[in-house]
Amino acid sequence: MDVACLMKLVLMLWITLITSIKSDPSDEACLTHLNKSLQDPNKSLENWNEATFSKPCNESTSTLKGILCNNGRIYKLSLNNLSLRGTISPFLSNCTNLQTLDLSSNFITGPIPPELQSLVNLAVLNLSSNRLEGEIPPQLTLCAYLNIIDFHDNLLTGPIPQQLGLLVRLSAFDVSNNKLSGPIPASLSNRSSPNLPRFNASSFEGNKDLYGYPLPPLRTKGLSIMAIVLIGVGSGLASLIISFTGVCIWLKVTDRKVALEEGKVSHLMPDY
Ligand SMILES: *[C@@H]1O[C@H](CO)[C@@H](O)[C@H](O)[C@H]1NC(C)=O
Ligand SMILES: *[C@@H]1O[C@H](CO)[C@@H](O)[C@H](O)[C@H]1NC(C)=O
Ligand SMILES: *[C@@H]1O[C@H](CO)[C@@H](O)[C@H](O)[C@H]1NC(C)=O
Ligand SMILES: *[C@@H]1O[C@H](CO)[C@@H](O)[C@H](O)[C@H]1NC(C)=O
Ligand SMILES: *[C@@H]1O[C@H](CO)[C@@H](O)[C@H](O)[C@H]1NC(C)=O
Ligand SMILES: *[C@@H]1O[C@H](CO)[C@@H](O)[C@H](O)[C@H]1NC(C)=O
Ligand SMILES: *[C@@H]1O[C@H](CO)[C@@H](O)[C@H](O)[C@H]1NC(C)=O
Ligand SMILES: *[C@@H]1O[C@H](CO)[C@@H](O)[C@H](O)[C@H]1NC(C)=O
Repeated sequence: MDVACLMKLVLMLWITLITSIKSDPSDEACLTHLNKSLQDPNKSLENWNEATFSKPCNESTSTLKGILCNNGRIYKLSLNNLSLRGTISPFLSNCTNLQTLDLSSNFITGPIPPELQSLVNLAVLNLSSNRLEGEIPPQLTLCAYLNIIDFHDNLLTGPIPQQLGLLVRLSAFDVSNNKLSGPIPASLSNRSSPNLPRFNASSFEGNKDLYGYPLPPLRTKGLSIMAIVLIGVGSGLASLIISFTGVCIWLKVTDRKVALEEGKVSHLMPDY
């Protein structure tokens, strides 16, 4: 084998190695699934197609709208205010180098996938102003670098996971205007470490059943006792009415039966 041939072989191996590093199968899976779970009626993402998903990044640039790359991997996904519909694919977790995920101001429905927990580099999670439902996944606590959690203006239900208070880098937290319930965790509103920011009422307001500092305490007991009494009296009355009607119907039916029987008997009896 001559030297030139050997050089060629090495070069070829080198090139295959480089390209195999550059086209990342995780990012491709991430984009392919996201493209399937979202709908884009305004055609805002017109250059999003299967062909480009296999190689979304050229070093630090991307031709795909809303995507920024670093070292051949997607690190920022900003698809805000594009009238997108559909749901958030759990396979977004395949974009393992993601630092920013901004899907704010769209019409996205469905839950926040707990699978996002594997985005260990995530610093910004802005899903505000959508129609997201379900509970806030406590697993998000595993995204230890989270700086920003913005879920305001959605339809989220259930409690605020108190584990989120473990996110020591959190500088912005907004869950206002949802349908959350339960006590506000002191781990967010009254954090024990003086270096950590405490989130004030503006982070929590607009949730009918959320209570406790910095919002007002749980509604007074007087009201709930009143409600219990009213419910008791109401159901008592209802069962009385139901049983009365029952008795009336029974009486009527037996009356009619008796009348019928008597009629039959008188019919069978010969007239003398
Ligand atoms: C994508 O993520 C899923 C579930 O987390 C995993 O099973 C799959 O192997 C990942 N695919 C790639 C190409 O990384
Ligand atoms: C997904 O890709 C198809 C074409 O491959 C395109 O028509 C569709 O609009 C894409 N969806 C999104 C959300 O970009
Ligand atoms: C990658 O981008 C550089 C400039 O940023 C360009 O010169 C090069 O042709 C691009 N490569 C591909 C494969 O698109
Ligand atoms: C959202 O997009 C619409 C239409 O392109 C535009 O009129 C509006 O100003 C945008 N809103 C924000 C907050 O960027
Ligand atoms: C999408 O289209 C609708 C109506 O066709 C329009 O009202 C809206 O502003 C558009 N959104 C964006 C972000 O361009
Ligand atoms: C999240 O996105 C919305 C609009 O898309 C923006 O107004 C808001 O400031 C962002 N949240 C944070 C904490 O940056
Ligand atoms: C905040 O925490 C401190 C110490 O744990 C406690 O004494 C204080 O009552 C709390 N404040 C509120 C408003 O809950
Ligand atoms: C609540 O905190 C935000 C920043 O997180 C600040 O802009 C706002 O002024 C604060 N509101 C009050 C009433 O302290």
